[in-house]
Amino acid sequence: MKIGILISGRGSNMVAIVDAVRSGDVPSSEVVVVISDKADAAGLAKARERGVETVVVERNGRKRAEHDAEIISELKKRDVELVCLAGYMRLLSPDFVQAFPNKIINIHPSLLPAFPGLNAQKQAFDARVKVTGCTVHYVDELLDHGPVILQREVPRLPDDTVESLSARILEQEHGAYVDALRILAR
Ligand code: GRF
Repeated sequence: MKIGILISGRGSNMVAIVDAVRSGDVPSSEVVVVISDKADAAGLAKARERGVETVVVERNGRKRAEHDAEIISELKKRDVELVCLAGYMRLLSPDFVQAFPNKIINIHPSLLPAFPGLNAQKQAFDARVKVTGCTVHYVDELLDHGPVILQREVPRLPDDTVESLSARILEQEHGAYVDALRILAR
């Protein structure tokens, strides 16, 4: 399974995926490229350190469809079979979704369908839910939407802050993404 990962920032989920694939935790898989829409994404250096090819496809004020067409071509050039969104901060165009049917997955830091969109951890915190978590799901044309592959729950503890809660969710995200890839690789 040839995997391509899209990032926009820190890249901790990308690192979890690359390291798990490298250590054989995800059978018969290889991360062939990491693509960022931001030239200054911290994750780019982390991918390079791990010997993974990186590509920057900046938005440059272009329309989404045009920007996506370039990313699709970079992925297709490398025969990518599964696209993992890992903190990629742009909604995909319908053309992108249709170019990889049922082959694009995303991770989101809440138990979808609750709290889609930005700052999901803070949304859950402010709503005073007792349990939140993270979701790995197939990507469709809507934001943080599409069939769920798996979820992990994280309790909101009495003395939690948004930061402490977010940190525990992030820890679970890394394991959840790798578990989801194991399921798909099978
Ligand atoms: C994660 O919380 C992920 O769920 C969300 O964006 C964040 C990306 O973090 N989609 P990182 O770049 O993987 O560290």
